[in-house]
Amino acid sequence: MSAITLDLENIKSFLSDEEIESTQDDITRIHEEIEKGNTPGSDFLGWLHLPGAISDKLIDEINGTAQKLRDNCNAFISIGIGGSYLGAKAAVEFINHSFHNQLSTQKRNGPELFFAGQNISSDYLADLLDIIEEKEVCLNVISKSGTTTEPAIAFRVLKNMMEKRYGKEGARDRITVTTDEAKGALKTVAEEEGYETFVIPDDVGGRYSVLTPVGLLPIAVAGIDIGELIEGARSFEKKTANPDMKENPAYLYAAVRNLLYRKGKTIEILSSFHPSLHYIAEWWKQLAGESEGKDQKGIFPASVDLTTDLHSMGQWIQEGNRIIFETFFTVEKSNREITIPRFDDDSDGLNYIAGKSLDFVNDKAYRGTAMAHLEGGVPNMTLTLKDRSPNTLGQLFYFFEKAIALSGNLLGVNPFDQPGVEFYKKNMFKLLGK
Ligand code: PA5
Repeated sequence: MSAITLDLENIKSFLSDEEIESTQDDITRIHEEIEKGNTPGSDFLGWLHLPGAISDKLIDEINGTAQKLRDNCNAFISIGIGGSYLGAKAAVEFINHSFHNQLSTQKRNGPELFFAGQNISSDYLADLLDIIEEKEVCLNVISKSGTTTEPAIAFRVLKNMMEKRYGKEGARDRITVTTDEAKGALKTVAEEEGYETFVIPDDVGGRYSVLTPVGLLPIAVAGIDIGELIEGARSFEKKTANPDMKENPAYLYAAVRNLLYRKGKTIEILSSFHPSLHYIAEWWKQLAGESEGKDQKGIFPASVDLTTDLHSMGQWIQEGNRIIFETFFTVEKSNREITIPRFDDDSDGLNYIAGKSLDFVNDKAYRGTAMAHLEGGVPNMTLTLKDRSPNTLGQLFYFFEKAIALSGNLLGVNPFDQPGVEFYKKNMFKLLGK
């Protein structure tokens, strides 16, 4: 059963049903061309049938390594950037306890979790070294190209620390590498050192790689059931095999965002109503931004956390330049319920909502916001997730991957390359004297 629903009620005054339906022929054509491998970037379509193709053997291998790391370490560091970082970070933040690392060992499911290599900050890495000083540490270094500077620097520093602390042999047992099967500096290091290695398939690009060992290993170390996650993705792979938008919410979402873009709505704001969605929005921004922002085209993917940002960005969204549309992003059912207590003296004036759950109030905040933004001229739709389970997350990952692949093709760009990312690197290397 689909754990994702898309509500288009607040789009209707901007887009007619006929306009949406008019895109069906293009969508069906692109769907068929993608399936045949006839669209731009077709060398990178490995993600398309990945959920159905993942073998039980690979899942068992990943779970086996994850268990070993969970048994041997109480601090796990995932090193990577972009697609080699955001999927696992999104999963952990979506599913695990909001304060995972602060929980006691008894209450925490597995090691404390850290991320490195996603910036070049001296303070960040130095602070991380402080935090892990007295912990049993394991590392998973992830890079498809095996040459990305940010994770390479973090790995060099952390490897150095590990070898001093555990010796070469000891460090070897605690370091796992996820990279290309044959090429890249990281592959060379892994071979020379004899690190356990997982392979990123050649035909899966970084931002589409969360359901490969790139995402699956750190997610499994975090105690999340990756079998359930894959199961969810598989169910959405089946659901989106049908190009008919009435049956395929990923294509409906892609069609709507493209039609709004053509009407001058060049920024999409993903407005989350649950803090656990924050990093899913970050993952989505990479997916949408790198896939579509090229050839002087593309929707700018932005995100806000609500209701937090209603007290900062809310003003802009309500009354700023009308070049935005909004996708509200909610979870129907929190993991745990808190009810607002009644105070006899009602000194804070909240007794009118006493006895109500926070979910109830949050839902009214969302509805009130959606209405206000619509009145302010912001077309908006709502993506609702049933719950915070791995299965729902698997469905969501696949939903967005399929939607953005189709959306990029509707826009007329290659959604699977990222030539623009090289420009800063060229300048940085020159300045560094590489
Ligand atoms: O989507 C992409 O391919 C990129 O954003 C990469 O994920 C990112 O640059 C990290 O690359 P790598 O995994 O090669 O270190």
